[in-house]
Amino acid sequence: MNKLKVMLVFGTRPEAIKMAPLVKELKKHENIECLVCVTGQHREMLDQVLSAFEVTPDFDLAIMEKSQTLYTVTAKALTGLKEVFDRNRPDIVLVHGDTTTTFASALAAFYDKIKVGHVEAGLRSFDKNSPYPEEMNRVLTGRLADIHFAPTAANADNLKNEGVTKDVYITGNTVIDALKTTVRDDYVFECDELNHIDYQNKKVVLMTAHRRENYGLPMENIMSAVAELAQKKRDAVFVYPVHLSPYVRETASKYLSGLENVMLIEPLGVFDMHNLMDRVYMVMTDSGGLQEEAPALGKPVLVLRRETERPEAVAAGTVEIVGTEKRDIIESALRLFDDEAHYLKMKKAVNPYGDGEACRRICENLLYYFGMGDKPAESFKA
Ligand code: UD1
Ligand code: UDP
Repeated sequence: MNKLKVMLVFGTRPEAIKMAPLVKELKKHENIECLVCVTGQHREMLDQVLSAFEVTPDFDLAIMEKSQTLYTVTAKALTGLKEVFDRNRPDIVLVHGDTTTTFASALAAFYDKIKVGHVEAGLRSFDKNSPYPEEMNRVLTGRLADIHFAPTAANADNLKNEGVTKDVYITGNTVIDALKTTVRDDYVFECDELNHIDYQNKKVVLMTAHRRENYGLPMENIMSAVAELAQKKRDAVFVYPVHLSPYVRETASKYLSGLENVMLIEPLGVFDMHNLMDRVYMVMTDSGGLQEEAPALGKPVLVLRRETERPEAVAAGTVEIVGTEKRDIIESALRLFDDEAHYLKMKKAVNPYGDGEACRRICENLLYYFGMGDKPAESFKA
């Protein structure tokens, strides 16, 4: 029997974290040939993940430029992928989520008449400009895709409402598969500073920020709010691994450098990051992935955005959408610091995004789609 040739294409840190367990799962199957192509939209932050999960790409387009634009990322990925696809002709290209790599890869596969599978399909904020450009990246990728791997039933419903009902599978999010392999009670951090924090007796806050729609005033508000919180709560520790985007680094340093209880550190390896999240008091972030991981670890999350495409944990009460106004951020954070009943209510662990079996389901569904399996996998149920 001919092997099914599956090529995964990804380019940024979160895509890599969520695709790595799928690479491992696909490679277990004798009747699948699994190839990995990275665009290199991110460089250092992508390579950190590849080495942590021991994934060696077969192709690397190395497209990243300092302060790159959406135009250059799209154009370089699109033309680079044409060559890779032409030379290798996969049966299907798997893309992930909502980055510009995701959309450009789906478009390139479509131009080359190669089937597209969309992992983490169907997330929607319903606002074209927020998150920007991710909402349109995922909508457009959904239009181009032949197979849709929706993490949750609500994500599948979003696709249904857009008329996409065929070949939609509910699998759970692969990030929970990743999380199950990284978090350990006896973990020792590679970033040694993190080994010296007193997690038992200090309220440790993990924060991250990077969204493009937050560039400008919203990002200034976020940083300035955290600076004020750090001054108000001198006993707390704020740990902030700063994204490599030059704009983010400049703004973080302007507001937060020199504050005694704010640790501005380099982006963490994924094992460090997940284990840090497991030990902190709470999380403040505009990240998508952290909104999925932190609830699974029982950590309250304040989302520093006006909307979310991940409403499940908001409904469960673990995540609060705070927005980007300084006063609102400070108020919500202080409530979590000072109101124990409120904190305990938000802290309860929920797992609406997955059960650690997403990659198995995706593989089974792929084989079924190509007539190589008897039945599709059972749907993930929260
Ligand atoms: C990208 C994705 C976003 C995702 C985020 C995860 C797009 C448009 N945005 O945003 O959806 O949430 O990744 O982090 O696809 N840089 C480095 N080294 C790195 C990574 C980034 O120097 O390893 C710098 C580069 O100067 C780059 C800038 O960061 O120009 C921004 O990177 P880019 O991929 O364009 O956008 P992100 O904000 O990271
Ligand atoms: N992450 C990491 N190191 C860091 C910051 C984040 O490993 O210093 C991980 C995090 O645990 C999550 C993913 O990166 O799995 C989220 O990436 P990011 O916030 O950059 O992107 P988003 O999820 O918003 O697209």
